[in-house]
Amino acid sequence: MNVRRAGPGDLDALARLHAAAFTPGWSAAEIAALEAVALVEDGAGLILVRTVAGEAEILSVGVRPEARAAGIGRRLVAAALEAAAAEGAESVFLEVAEDNAAARRLYAGFEFQAVGRRRGYYPRPGAAAVDALVLRRALNTPP
Ligand SMILES: CC(C)(COP(=O)(O)OP(=O)(O)OC[C@H]1O[C@@H](n2cnc3c(N)ncnc32)[C@H](O)[C@@H]1OP(=O)(O)O)[C@@H](O)C(=O)NCCC(=O)NCCS
Repeated sequence: MNVRRAGPGDLDALARLHAAAFTPGWSAAEIAALEAVALVEDGAGLILVRTVAGEAEILSVGVRPEARAAGIGRRLVAAALEAAAAEGAESVFLEVAEDNAAARRLYAGFEFQAVGRRRGYYPRPGAAAVDALVLRRALNTPP
């Protein structure tokens, strides 16, 4: 499988993928409203990245549970970094829950660095809310 850029005809498939990776997932309308570049590995995973004024943000990256730990997340992030650079971004930001080991490992592999923390950002039912780490990566080096 290869990562490709999604178009308007892919919105329902993107919503299905998002719902498989996140609870609750985002609807097709919510994804469309983000006006982000969507990159997809069909039937497996997606990433949404938006560039504004030279700064890109990875809004979401998700892989179906049964397709994880096979390098798809890495391919999606690499493609998003390329897409952001092509749109003129000089850096990429994202937020990740401090307790999300898989995502933190994924981003560490691309040399994202922690530049901030939002305390109690992610509610956890029946438990204390978890901090978000704000990660940044410059785009002056190849992914
Ligand atoms: C985070 C996520 C996108 C990773 O996708 P993936 O396809 O499994 O990732 P990859 O197979 O490309 O692996 C990337 C790295 O993460 C590591 N990793 C994967 N799953 C892991 C896990 N459960 N625990 C720890 N590390 C893990 C891999 O070993 C690899 O590290 P390496 O490059 O040092 O070997 C996926 O787990 C997911 O969809 N999670 C739910 C949604 C989510 O949390 N998204 C991120 C929000 S910020």
